[in-house]
Amino acid sequence: MSPSSFLVLLVTFFTSAAAAPLHLTAQPLVAGVLLKSKTFLSPPISLRPGSVSNKWYHDVAFPRGHLALKSFNGELVDARGAPVPLHETYLHHWLVSPYYSSAAAAERRRPRPNAGVCLGLLGQFFGLGAETRRTATRVPDPYGVEIGDPAAPPDGGYVERWSLNVHAIDTRGAADKLGCAECRCDLYNVTVNEAGYAGGAQCCYDQARCRVEEGFADGEPRVLFLRYTVMWVDWSDAAVVPVRIYILDVTDTALLDGKSEPDCKVEYTVEECSAENRARNECVDVKVTKEVLPRGGEIVYAVGHQHAGGTGTSLHGEDGRLLCWSMPTYGDGEEAGNEAGYVVGMSTCYPSPGGAARVRDGEALTVVSNYTGERRRTGVMGHFYLLVADEQEQQPQQRLALNKQQPSSLCFSFPGAFRHGSPSSTIGAVRVKVSVVRSAPSSVVGSPAKASAGHK
Ligand SMILES: *[C@@H]1O[C@H](CO)[C@@H](O)[C@H](O)[C@H]1NC(C)=O
Ligand SMILES: *[C@@H]1O[C@H](CO)[C@@H](O)[C@H](O)[C@H]1NC(C)=O
Repeated sequence: MSPSSFLVLLVTFFTSAAAAPLHLTAQPLVAGVLLKSKTFLSPPISLRPGSVSNKWYHDVAFPRGHLALKSFNGELVDARGAPVPLHETYLHHWLVSPYYSSAAAAERRRPRPNAGVCLGLLGQFFGLGAETRRTATRVPDPYGVEIGDPAAPPDGGYVERWSLNVHAIDTRGAADKLGCAECRCDLYNVTVNEAGYAGGAQCCYDQARCRVEEGFADGEPRVLFLRYTVMWVDWSDAAVVPVRIYILDVTDTALLDGKSEPDCKVEYTVEECSAENRARNECVDVKVTKEVLPRGGEIVYAVGHQHAGGTGTSLHGEDGRLLCWSMPTYGDGEEAGNEAGYVVGMSTCYPSPGGAARVRDGEALTVVSNYTGERRRTGVMGHFYLLVADEQEQQPQQRLALNKQQPSSLCFSFPGAFRHGSPSSTIGAVRVKVSVVRSAPSSVVGSPAKASAGHK
């Protein structure tokens, strides 16, 4: 790191309560469209061995103006800007959401959640966890996440601002690193008054502390940051097709239970498989649910979210057709981005040359999340994040305008996600029969952790 960038970090640390931009780059593209990129630091996050930070930061630094977001990448770094590996600080998740803030009184806030479907939970625009370094977040052309529309804020002097939540667990010296990352209540000395609750976000709340080995109890705190890079094009520069953001959750059993309101529990527990299943080589926890997508269209990007132990997620249409298959990548080393035993990336789904996958308005989609049942795991997740655009036929001019400018510089890839042999799947014409539409008898639905894991 150059002395000047070190200075930028120091200045950021000492002068800014909110995040500060590190640098701005702009790459000229065909047809006068500029893909812009800016890197920011979150407010400082102070962690000592075993401790947890799970805070929301309001009015963080973010690109301003009427824009189409094209990607969002983040990672934890230390005060020198060096990436911090997951076995030192486990990044449980980060979430980024716009909200409307009163220009007169900044503490008056109105949420601006995504398009659904968990109603007040999982309302973020972007969010990933341990897998953040090797998960592609690029929104394909001609699509973009529209932000900063001056006409969007509600009347009464509201402006759009951004909030950031970072949930990080310092596992230096931890008695059980993976147990701390799975938020096992016994390791945090927390008792949750709820039948069978053994672990999850209710036990690794902000300021909680996981058990550490002797000699680490008085460990010095260190300061970390979420460093995040946002890429965008100006709304007026390109004929961008806006997308709606949906997040599906495999724990939402409302439809199966005949309830009208969503029932997203965000997390669940995977039980160890039975001796019989182990003997039959069927030691896998298969969790399946159905959720309704209120408004359909074309799925132009999809990615699953799983924790360590995950072996794959898939998303299917009402007739069983495969919409996306998203697989975790595991690290096999020590360095940041390749930590052994952790999920360091998730494969993503993009439209195939034949076109994007289409879903109907009100179509019931099936979400599948598999975990190995080789041991019990708490606080696991099975989510699907989708970007859905209105059918292209409705926007022929836009399609033409953007077909001409397919800029290759908009395409970037995360080598790690491919090096480990988990190719990006393709959204498109693939048809498979869903053979497993059942809940494994061994799986137990975990307890809700709404306040901490969801949208504020
Ligand atoms: C947890 O409780 C045990 C027994 O009461 C105590 O010895 C230990 O210090 C506590 N650990 C933490 C991290 O608070
Ligand atoms: C989940 O596990 C079942 C049973 O082993 C298998 O048939 C299915 O293909 C798996 N799905 C994913 C997404 O890994």
